[in-house]
Amino acid sequence: MTESPRICDYGDSRYRQDFWEGRGRDYEDAVERRVLRQFLPRSGRRLLEVGAGFGRLTTEYRAFRQVVLLDYSLEQLQYARDHFGDDGYLYIAADAYRMPFRAGAFDAATMIRVIHHFEDVPAVLRQIRGALAKDGKFILEFANKRHLKSILRHLFGRNAWNPFTLDPVEFVELNFDFHPDYMRRHVNECGFVIRRTAPVSWLRLGLLKRALPVGLLTALDSALQRSGWAISPSIFLDLQLRDGSAMSAPASDDALDILRCPETDSSLRRDGDQLISESGTRWAMRGGIYDFRHPLN
Ligand SMILES: C[S@@+](CC[C@H](N)C(=O)[O-])C[C@H]1O[C@@H](n2cnc3c(N)ncnc32)[C@H](O)[C@@H]1O
Repeated sequence: MTESPRICDYGDSRYRQDFWEGRGRDYEDAVERRVLRQFLPRSGRRLLEVGAGFGRLTTEYRAFRQVVLLDYSLEQLQYARDHFGDDGYLYIAADAYRMPFRAGAFDAATMIRVIHHFEDVPAVLRQIRGALAKDGKFILEFANKRHLKSILRHLFGRNAWNPFTLDPVEFVELNFDFHPDYMRRHVNECGFVIRRTAPVSWLRLGLLKRALPVGLLTALDSALQRSGWAISPSIFLDLQLRDGSAMSAPASDDALDILRCPETDSSLRRDGDQLISESGTRWAMRGGIYDFRHPLN
């Protein structure tokens, strides 16, 4: 890909209010949390949440000493910061294609409901690999192109695209569904080993969600996950870096020990309320959030 990949900019979108709050998605939220609890290590030093949004899932990462929330939307991060504060949390507004981290800064990373906005999947996977320490763990969720509903629609001639071909389908601008084999191939090529796969959200049907309690839906979903059939709308991968950076994640919680300039790849120092690279590139700090989207100079 020669031009810079496009970014799906949430800006000050009403994602939280219009997609989650009181929108009948308690079941989806519950199954995602349940898989995260199964896949996450019991403790850890530092976790990177890529595309953290307003911090919907951030409470699941409490076992980590420091959680770094990265998102392109300053407004989503502001909401998260108001909620979680600064003790144990760091907020980074940045493009995930150009992450401002030193190699090996994290012992774990997650990316849930985010990669469907990426047209250059290998590029963002490489960024995550670079930020992970030796044996780093990565939990990735992606939207599945070959799910039961799209297969049935295809068989009845109702789909404009074929769910069995490997190419990603962009069903709305910058919203992609991926074939499980496409994603498996790219995570492998990027140096990750797939330790576990969890096909989730099987029961995403308004009728079922209205009729059955969330606890029962979640239990049924867990049973279906055990089938291993990758034909659900959403798939979680439990990944481990094959041979990551030789470094282990820095012990200090000082932001400057994990940040680097995304333009010049050099280290940063504080200058008033800005960060400055060795070659003089300046980055703003806005309301407690490091802003690496565009340099000041
Ligand atoms: C559907 S939301 C998911 C948020 C959260 N992970 C969750 O599950 O609630 C997608 C998030 O990805 C972020 N995002 C999209 N493209 C991005 C990029 N290039 N760099 C960083 N964040 C990005 C958006 O700002 C948005 O907050």
